[in-house]
Amino acid sequence: MTDNGDHTNKDAFGSIGGSPAATPSPEDDLRDYSATHVLSGGTTILIRAVRPDDKPRFQAAFANLERDSIYRRFLSYKKELTDADLEHATGVDFDRVVALVATVGAGGAEAIIAGARYVSDPGPAPHCNAEIAFLVEEDYQGQGIAGCLLDHLVRIAGAKGLSQLCADVLANNRPMLTVFERSGLPMRKTQFQDVIHITLSLERGTR
Ligand SMILES: CC(C)(COP(=O)(O)OP(=O)(O)OC[C@H]1O[C@@H](n2cnc3c(N)ncnc32)[C@H](O)[C@@H]1OP(=O)(O)O)[C@@H](O)C(=O)NCCC(=O)NCCS
Repeated sequence: MTDNGDHTNKDAFGSIGGSPAATPSPEDDLRDYSATHVLSGGTTILIRAVRPDDKPRFQAAFANLERDSIYRRFLSYKKELTDADLEHATGVDFDRVVALVATVGAGGAEAIIAGARYVSDPGPAPHCNAEIAFLVEEDYQGQGIAGCLLDHLVRIAGAKGLSQLCADVLANNRPMLTVFERSGLPMRKTQFQDVIHITLSLERGTR
């Protein structure tokens, strides 16, 4: 599924201009998923499925991240991505695990500036729950990219029949909580110490 439409819709993806993504059908190969969006400053970003050849782009993106962003994403510190981390990031089945990246630039200059993924509960399909996580490079934060990625993942998850997306978010992670609150999806929060467990409902008719 590829969307190269015009980029004028300001509602479908929060503050980002973009054509609303068509809801994927079960026949679509999510490995071909892509959509373009224009940030308010005029930069065009591509949101696309993660590919096996993204390892060097993940490594380069990780090297640019601040410690705090890494901690908020992984709830622990990491100095670098190991081979196993890179395999995990790029070896995506697009069935139980769906991962998207946002990139700028093209060809050899294409750079990953954000990523989001969901991992469905283990066990045989059909899955109903998935854990979702995001990371946006600091230079690109505050421009609605996470909301846009969430919107894409919600459509994909809904098309695959998932009924809820969950996330563990540090209680002081206001930007992430804001993104979930703005999704318009019914949301439940349960807090344990400094981590809030978020559950977003994807049930039909509740959005
Ligand atoms: C949380 C995160 C994914 C949000 O991504 P984003 O693309 O910046 O989100 P948005 O642009 O939609 O911003 C959401 C809100 O947070 C605010 N915000 C975003 N980045 C911010 C920053 N660095 N400092 C202060 N506020 C920030 C935005 O301004 C916006 O609020 P506003 O519209 O009222 O101004 C991003 O900050 C990030 O990658 N953080 C580190 C990793 C992380 O926390 N992952 C979550 C684990 S599930």
